[in-house]
Amino acid sequence: MSTVIKGGTIVTADLTYTADVKIEGETIVEIGRDLSGDEVLDASGCMVMPGGIDPHVHLEMPFMGTYSTDDFESGTRAAIAGGTTMVVDFCLPNPGQSLLEALQRWDNKAGRAHCDYSYHMGITWWDEQVFNEMKTIVEDKGINTFKHFMAYKGALMVQDDEMYASFQRCAELGAMPLVHAENGDVVADLSAKLLAAGNNGPEAHAYSRPPQVEGEATNRAIMIADMAGVPLYVVHTSCEDSHEAIRRARQQGKRVYGEPLIQHLTLDESEYFDKDWDHAARRVMSPPFRNKQHQDSLWAGLASGSLQVVATDHCAFTTDQKRTGINDFTKIPNGTGGLEDRLPMLWTYGVVTGRLTMNEFVAVTSTNIAKILNIYPKKGAILVGADADIVVWDPTKTKTISAKTQQSAIDYNVFEGKQVQGLPRFTLSRGTVSLRDGELTSKEGHGQFVKREPYQAVGKALSTWKELTAPRKIERSGIPASGV
Ligand code: URP
Ligand code: ZN
Ligand code: ZN
Ligand code: ZN
Repeated sequence: MSTVIKGGTIVTADLTYTADVKIEGETIVEIGRDLSGDEVLDASGCMVMPGGIDPHVHLEMPFMGTYSTDDFESGTRAAIAGGTTMVVDFCLPNPGQSLLEALQRWDNKAGRAHCDYSYHMGITWWDEQVFNEMKTIVEDKGINTFKHFMAYKGALMVQDDEMYASFQRCAELGAMPLVHAENGDVVADLSAKLLAAGNNGPEAHAYSRPPQVEGEATNRAIMIADMAGVPLYVVHTSCEDSHEAIRRARQQGKRVYGEPLIQHLTLDESEYFDKDWDHAARRVMSPPFRNKQHQDSLWAGLASGSLQVVATDHCAFTTDQKRTGINDFTKIPNGTGGLEDRLPMLWTYGVVTGRLTMNEFVAVTSTNIAKILNIYPKKGAILVGADADIVVWDPTKTKTISAKTQQSAIDYNVFEGKQVQGLPRFTLSRGTVSLRDGELTSKEGHGQFVKREPYQAVGKALSTWKELTAPRKIERSGIPASGV
C-alpha cells in the first residue's frame, strides 16, 4: 500500500520546490515529479512540510495539587488537528522517587497517544541514586535531555549545586540539560509581599515574575552550563532579558538554545488586567505574558537565529481548576494550552505578516528541534528514508479559534476569537493519514515512543573543545629551590 502526496510545494528548512512525495508504510520512499501510488492525496495549492514537533508539553501532569486536564489522548489529538506529529512531554519524578519508576508511570499514560512522543526526564531532586539512574535513562531508555526547574520553590525547584552536578553528569553522558529559568527565591519573596499587601488577583502572578527573574536565572544557567562543559536549552524564553543572555552567550561561542512559546509571541500582559477574573486566571502561566517590546525581541530572535524553536508548553487546566486560586494567585495552577493552535497562529502572525519565511517557519516548528534532540532526519525532514510525519498545509484556509470546536478537553482557549489563515488539509503520522480534509481520522494508541541517542553533534563538538582547552598542569624543567 503506497500513498502519494501530489501537486504540492515541498517546503523544508532550506528548500522550496515542486514535487510529489511517495510513502510506503511509515516511511518516505521517493520524492519527484509525476509519482503514482495506490492512494493519492491532493496537495494542489498547498505546502508539504515536516509535521510539527512540539518539544514542550505537559499532558496529565501532576502539578499544584491537581493534574493538567489534557492527557496523552486529547493532547495528541489536538496536536494532529493542528499539524503537529510529535510531542515531547516531561517525566517528573516526585522528590525521592526513582527516575525509572517515574518513567514507568509516564509510559502507562502515553500509550493512548495519537502521534509519536518522547520525554525529557526531570531532575527534581538530587543524590547518588539520581546520578546513577541518569546513565540508565540515557543508555537504555533513549532519553537524552534532563529538565531542571529553577523556580517552583518548595516543589520542583533545584539548587545551584544540584544543577551544576547534574549538568556535569549530562556532559559525561552526552546528554543535554534544559532549564525553566526563573529565580524561584525572588519569585517566592515577591509573591509573599504582594499577598501581604492584599494583591491577590491573577495580575499579581505577573507582578511576582518580572523579566529580571528570568534574565538572572537564564544567565546563571548559561554560566553553570559553560563551566560544566555542556550545551543548554532554555525553555519558554519569554522576554528580552532572557533572550539577551542567550544571544550574548551564542555570540561568545557558547552552545545555548532558546525556545519562545506561541503564547508569548502573540498574547501580551494586558490579558492579566482583564476585569473578568476567569479571563485573567486562565492565562496564568510561568513565565507570564509580557509587553510588546519583549514580543518584538522574541520575533527578532526567531528571524535572526538567536532563538531556534517555537513550542507551546501545553499544560491545560479547566476554569474550575484555575478557581482554586480565587483568593490567592499563588494557588492558580500555572499553565495554558496551545497544541492545536501553534502552527496556525505562527503561520498567521509570522509568515502571513512577513516576519518569518516559510522555510524559517519549518525550521522553528520542526527541523531545528529535531537536530537539537538528535532525531534528525528521522523527524523534522522531508527526505527519502525519513518518517512520513507530514503536514499538507493549505495557506488559504481560515478559521476563528474557539473552544467550541477545539480538540482540547478544557472549556476555553487562550486564543479565543483569533482569526487564523493557514491550516492543515492533511496530517500524516508515520504514513497514516490522521487528518483528512480537516477531519480527524487518527487512532488512539497509534503514537510510538521515539528513542533519542546521546552525543548530539553540537554536544560532541563542545566536549571535544572543552577537553582541548581544559586547564593543564605546566611541566617545568628548572624548579627553583624552596625557601629564602
Ligand atoms: O506555567 C507553566 N509553564 N506551567 C507548566 C510547567 C512549566 O513551568 O513549564
Ligand atoms: Zn516551566
Ligand atoms: Zn474573557
Ligand atoms: Zn513546561
